[in-house]
Amino acid sequence: MIPKLTFYEEKAGVFVWGGDLPPEHLFDSLDESPRQSWRLLNGSEVAIHQAEMKPESYRVQVEPDRIIISATDLNGRLYAVQDLANLIQDHGIRCCSFEGSPRFGWRGMMLDVARHFQDKAFVLKFIDLLFIHKMNRLHLHLCDDQGWRLEIKRYPRLTSVGAFRKGTQIRPGSPELDELPHGGFFTQEDLREIVAYATKRGVTVMPEIEMPGHCQAALAAYPEFGNTGWPLEPKSHFGVIEDVYGVQNETFTFLEHVLEEVLDIFPSEFIHVGGDEVPKKQWQESSVAQKRMKSLGLQNEDELQSWFIKHFDQWLRARGRRLIGWDEILEGGLAEGAAVMSWRGSAGGIKALELGHEAVMVPHTHCYFDHYQSSVKALEPTAIGGCTTLQKVYEFEPAAGVNPDDIPRLLGSQGQLWSEYMRTPEHVEYMALPRMCALAEVLWGRQSNETYGTFEKRLVPHLAKLKSLGYNFRPIQPEPPTNYVRIGSWEQGQLSNEPRELAFVMPTPLNLSQGFSISVNYGGGFYGVFIDSVEIRTPEGAICTQVTGASGNQDEGNIVHFAPASHPVEVVVTMRSKGTSDTEGNIYVVLP
Ligand code: ACM
Repeated sequence: MIPKLTFYEEKAGVFVWGGDLPPEHLFDSLDESPRQSWRLLNGSEVAIHQAEMKPESYRVQVEPDRIIISATDLNGRLYAVQDLANLIQDHGIRCCSFEGSPRFGWRGMMLDVARHFQDKAFVLKFIDLLFIHKMNRLHLHLCDDQGWRLEIKRYPRLTSVGAFRKGTQIRPGSPELDELPHGGFFTQEDLREIVAYATKRGVTVMPEIEMPGHCQAALAAYPEFGNTGWPLEPKSHFGVIEDVYGVQNETFTFLEHVLEEVLDIFPSEFIHVGGDEVPKKQWQESSVAQKRMKSLGLQNEDELQSWFIKHFDQWLRARGRRLIGWDEILEGGLAEGAAVMSWRGSAGGIKALELGHEAVMVPHTHCYFDHYQSSVKALEPTAIGGCTTLQKVYEFEPAAGVNPDDIPRLLGSQGQLWSEYMRTPEHVEYMALPRMCALAEVLWGRQSNETYGTFEKRLVPHLAKLKSLGYNFRPIQPEPPTNYVRIGSWEQGQLSNEPRELAFVMPTPLNLSQGFSISVNYGGGFYGVFIDSVEIRTPEGAICTQVTGASGNQDEGNIVHFAPASHPVEVVVTMRSKGTSDTEGNIYVVLP
């Protein structure tokens, strides 16, 4: 055993570190020289050896008078030093050896800075968060209908016009706007600083330049690159819109010019070109698009989109880069060198893998951190919809349904922070954490003896550390909250478009003398439910409360209040599916 060591600030050439995050000079030194050694204050040597290992892997041997770190690359060195520092802080250190190696090479987060701009200081703080979780990809969603967020020197209107909008939709499903101007963008200098900061922390910053859809902010600046030429503004509402890039030569030249500047800033091998949610109406109505289809012998507009993406696949490969896009790029034929980011479930990713391509699995069911974190939405800040609990993320299996032969081409996964309803850095962190901790562990690789329960226990001190570093997070809470008592559920196949009565007996141990509520909570499936009535039946008669409630992506009128009652009580809920019968969910009694 050797004495407890402490890393302090560097003094007189002695390597020392006492904080939660390594100081900048440590990042510099790990980056620059793979083979080196330092001395700790107590005189022990820390030696770094270059070793033949798998990417990002490391081994640490703590001996009586020295510590040997073996790694093959920068990320291995970084993660070894981080583990060592955590060990020293948490337990002191004694002779031991340990090693680490990630399950997946793509462990990331997507940050949507288009819907709500987040400034450079926040992005740097977010990169620290990636480093703390041994994540190595930051996908920046830099442009969308609501804003263009990177300076392009050749096209200054992209930011002078495209980076500012008049107002923002307040909540999903409502046209109401806040009428507060919103805007901002990164200069190229900002982005170079972000890339350099991330690189030192083992994080690749991958830019996304959306095409051919989600481009209204760009078309507001340069309408000539669309299909109609009509004047547009950066959009204030969210959703999928018909305005998309045109397929005239001038649009391709414009996008190539943009990408030339993007490649100059971002060394990332993969460049994301979007490709999702492209309505084809304008191409159907455009003589230019129809002529283009005819001259190319294309059968339909899906093939036109595929041709569009293939153009940029070739263009990027000619410059030593690779194209990645959302799973819609499979429609009409996948470009030869493309990788697929599978968001509408895992099926697109599985198909891409079967075709011999690479895939990143980001199914909305597990990786969309813009979803609610609890099925009890009334207690959460407004979110876009859905429900992706911490436990669900922890239990995510990226390789589910993937043919074992294809697994080497399954690159990994990332959490998605779409920011339609996240206005502030604190809110982004609240949605990211602690789900990002769970995803990081899934992607690094869970130990076989770990369960959600053991993870939750380990999360407690980890969240305390994140708090001390100034991060906001959703506290660990029981799901559902402890005053929610489940009295029944509905399963897939049980509901249709016709009203159906579901009856449940109120458990007698529940004390109803203070009054109570019944909460109907959609739990999963593609469609939510309409709630027609919630009725309480007692020997004295029925108390029927008519509601026009709904539960699903958003909840409205799904909690019905009742005066005190005594047992026996029967609860009868009449409801319908909003669509097909695949909905499922729970009925709770909510006690005061
Ligand atoms: C997406 O969520 N539209 C990729």
